[in-house]
Amino acid sequence: MKFYFYTLLAVLYALSIQGCQSDDIDSGIPMNENVVLEIPSYFPELTYDFAAYPLTNNGIRLGRKLFYDGRLSADNTIACAFCHLQENAFTHHGHALSHGINDKIGIRNTPSLNNVGFYTNFSWDGAIHQLDEFSIIPITTDFEMDETMENILQKLSADAGYKALFKKVYNTDQINGRQVLNALSQFMVTMISASSPYDHVMQKRQRFSVEEEKGYALFQKNCASCHQGALQTDFSFRDNGLTYNPRTEDVGRMRVSLDAKDSLKFRVPSLRNVELTAPYMHDGRFRTLEAVLKHYTEDLRPNPNLDPAFKNADGSIGLRLNTDEQKAIIAFLKTLTDNDFISRPALAEPF
Ligand code: HEC
Ligand code: HEC
Repeated sequence: MKFYFYTLLAVLYALSIQGCQSDDIDSGIPMNENVVLEIPSYFPELTYDFAAYPLTNNGIRLGRKLFYDGRLSADNTIACAFCHLQENAFTHHGHALSHGINDKIGIRNTPSLNNVGFYTNFSWDGAIHQLDEFSIIPITTDFEMDETMENILQKLSADAGYKALFKKVYNTDQINGRQVLNALSQFMVTMISASSPYDHVMQKRQRFSVEEEKGYALFQKNCASCHQGALQTDFSFRDNGLTYNPRTEDVGRMRVSLDAKDSLKFRVPSLRNVELTAPYMHDGRFRTLEAVLKHYTEDLRPNPNLDPAFKNADGSIGLRLNTDEQKAIIAFLKTLTDNDFISRPALAEPF
């Protein structure tokens, strides 16, 4: 049988007006060429809108440089990559709550950045709907990078390398904030994780082991109503029965909606690369996947907004999975680990 794996191309714009300039002498690649992302057929539509600026090699290169540049922070030390480390699927490994400039502790666990060009909302409470609008938050938050866009523009404008790159990408001598945020997004939309064993199974290039297959079936039944599809999330806000954390005082979606019905609801996180992204949950309270499964089966709290998915017909709460079944689910979750994604040179710190 013949299967077409990476055949679906997202056509991101109709006509190229930039043409093809061979302006990168180092690589010989026409760097200002528009880039067409390769998207597997079982992925949803891209949500990122390239209408304002098409995706280009130079744009991605510029965004990558910015993502790894500490100068986006007040003391020039905290880059985006400080909290979003590639080897941990762009999470802040080992830190329950993120800590940024001057070791200030934030209130939330750093989520993985993968497939963000397909997201319909951002952050644990879904406050933001556009990727381009997101990056200004870590840049200006006092416990993250604590910088202003004004200062960043000054720093970047004083750097000949940046000036030249901005000129190539945006055809301007005047670097502005919108371009900085767009370039960061251009890089982030290339963070496509679609080469895990799970993907290879979806692409019919590989089969699950017996244990993984069993875990996949249990996952579909118990977890996939929320951790859904290729992205492993449906982007909805749910209360999965965690206790309120008095230290962070985080009520989740209610922070955005101010509606008590949203208290302790958090956005369903993607489980891609979950083996690498401990600790877990919005405040990083669990260190292992075993602890997560124990939570879902034994420790759910009867919060007022607890999701109906966890309520049983006899009035009890909690998923019914024995130890073997929990192990099988964890075996399945590990098939979401994408070694190509965490070692892909194009996503690493540029030199
Ligand atoms: C101090 C650590 C830290 C730094 C530095 C940082 N982030 Fe984050 N990032 C986080 C945390 C924590 C969240 C979750 C925020 C929330 O839910 O309120 C997050 C969330 C995100 C998200 C949303 C992901 C999702 O699942 O919705 C994106 C995109 C992102 N960061 C990009 C960036 C970019 C770009 C930079 C640099 C300009 C950056 N981050 C700098 C910690 C950090
Ligand atoms: C009703 C929706 C729902 C169901 C069903 C569900 N989850 Fe979740 N899951 C969530 C939400 C919401 C969060 C984030 C909660 C938070 O941090 O406050 C989450 C978080 C997680 C996390 C932590 C991820 C991270 O990056 O921190 C893991 C792992 C997880 N779930 C696995 C599972 C497994 C395995 C199942 C099935 C046994 C399952 N979930 C069933 C909604 C659900």
